[in-house]
Amino acid sequence: MERGGAGAAGVAVGIDLGTVSATVAVFREGRCETLPNAEGSPTTPCVVSFAEDGRILVGEAARRRALSHPQRTVVSAKRHLGSGRTVTVDGEVYTAEEICGHILAKIKRDAEARLGAPVTAAVLTVPAHFSELGRRATRQAARRAGLEVLRIVNEPTAAAFAYDHSRLWDREWDDTTLLVVHFGGGTFDVSLIAVGDGVVDVLATCGDNALGGDDWDAALAAHLAAGRGNSPAALTRLTDAAERAKTDLSSRSETEIDLPYLYPATATEGPLHLRETLTRATFQAVTADLLARCEGPLRKVFADAGLPTEVTRVVLVGGSARMPAVRDLVTRVVGPRARLHHLPGELVAHGAALQAAVLRGLYRTTLLSDVTPLSLGIGTKGGTVRRLIERNTDIPTRRTERFETVDPDTESLRIPVCQGESDLLADNVLLGHVTITDLGRAAFGKPIDVTFDLDASAELVIRVRHPVTGREHRFSF
Ligand SMILES: Nc1ncnc2c1ncn2[C@@H]1O[C@H](COP(=O)(O)OP(=O)(O)OP(=O)(O)O)[C@@H](O)[C@H]1O
Ligand SMILES: [Mg+2]
Repeated sequence: MERGGAGAAGVAVGIDLGTVSATVAVFREGRCETLPNAEGSPTTPCVVSFAEDGRILVGEAARRRALSHPQRTVVSAKRHLGSGRTVTVDGEVYTAEEICGHILAKIKRDAEARLGAPVTAAVLTVPAHFSELGRRATRQAARRAGLEVLRIVNEPTAAAFAYDHSRLWDREWDDTTLLVVHFGGGTFDVSLIAVGDGVVDVLATCGDNALGGDDWDAALAAHLAAGRGNSPAALTRLTDAAERAKTDLSSRSETEIDLPYLYPATATEGPLHLRETLTRATFQAVTADLLARCEGPLRKVFADAGLPTEVTRVVLVGGSARMPAVRDLVTRVVGPRARLHHLPGELVAHGAALQAAVLRGLYRTTLLSDVTPLSLGIGTKGGTVRRLIERNTDIPTRRTERFETVDPDTESLRIPVCQGESDLLADNVLLGHVTITDLGRAAFGKPIDVTFDLDASAELVIRVRHPVTGREHRFSF
């Protein structure tokens, strides 16, 4: 057997690029294996720090500098993939794609050292609810790191895929519908997935890309700061302490916060030390609004799949799903009969590695069938949306519609393409515009065929064709 599918083409790995940390795995000799990084850890912190001497530190070395050099250190870059937001360090402007590119480059390097072979390609996972822009940005980040992206797979789907693969040894297992709750540092996803009969089939998916453990930390940090103005250093220390307290409160009912010299002395007051005992009840009260935001997607995914809110198996993945309040909420929604299993976080990377092996033709296993998380459409006159692909449609998929130009004087067309569920264009994510300039004079009433092609990574290619002339234009964002 080839080493992890190595050969002339190099090894293909699976990478779970998280908000807080990343994991890389390879499928070899019939099983998935997490590859420890150069520091010997199974996960790499997704932190990049720019040193004064020009060095770029990534991973644990960068994470250690987050407290001492908060303004030179970038955390949680994944949350901004595809948003166009940038971060400035030392006058240099960086996109989230660039930051994630540095993280992926380290992951690639460390995996190569571990495998003793070049790693050239990868399957990457993204939150199921990631838009087209987030998916493209993830792909770009991987390209920057010199990786060919074989496919983008949704995180809950990857987890279910690896779980299904490992169930070969689970005698109690019956074919069933799983609720996968994936809840990490930056994103919340829920998917209903039918497994069995050789298929892992996603029935529906729902989520919130702007909801994760980071938000719990920020809410608790704000509570602890009690309205005091914070320097970047104080805020970093508070957030760090909040994160530790939060994690502690998953297994204990109270914890101590101890931050000596958090606020330096002023002309009138001495230095302030923050010392307090925090109970789980207070923590849950402070973060109740955030928890409430989890309930909508949990209920909606059942409604979208047309199923009653009842399952017997719930699979929880990600650090934030360890919060007792989250588990309680899930039980409240799906009923007390459900069995909750918390899976190891590395399962997401394992699912990606398995898919990489399948795509490289090295392994034949269960079929994976996923859906698109968000509807896709075009903006029409008057600011409304004509949807071409509805959310939760099986992918890959293709849909063509014929339109007629309505403006008598236009020789060109600029059609907005959007993703989301609102009938109003302004309330959707604008992916970009399709611009056609060769309609010819007096374009009024001319037909054009617009085709939306959504591939297995839920990435969109649009083709616009003039049926009369046969001319065709191709667009992607
Ligand atoms: N025992 C725990 N209780 C509560 N929260 C926890 C616990 N352990 C970890 N976390 C939180 O889980 C989050 C990290 O989870 P995880 O490693 O699954 O995220 P990620 O994969 O980096 O992010 P994402 O998948 O959202 O992009 C952090 O917010 C961390 O504070
Ligand atoms: Mg994750």
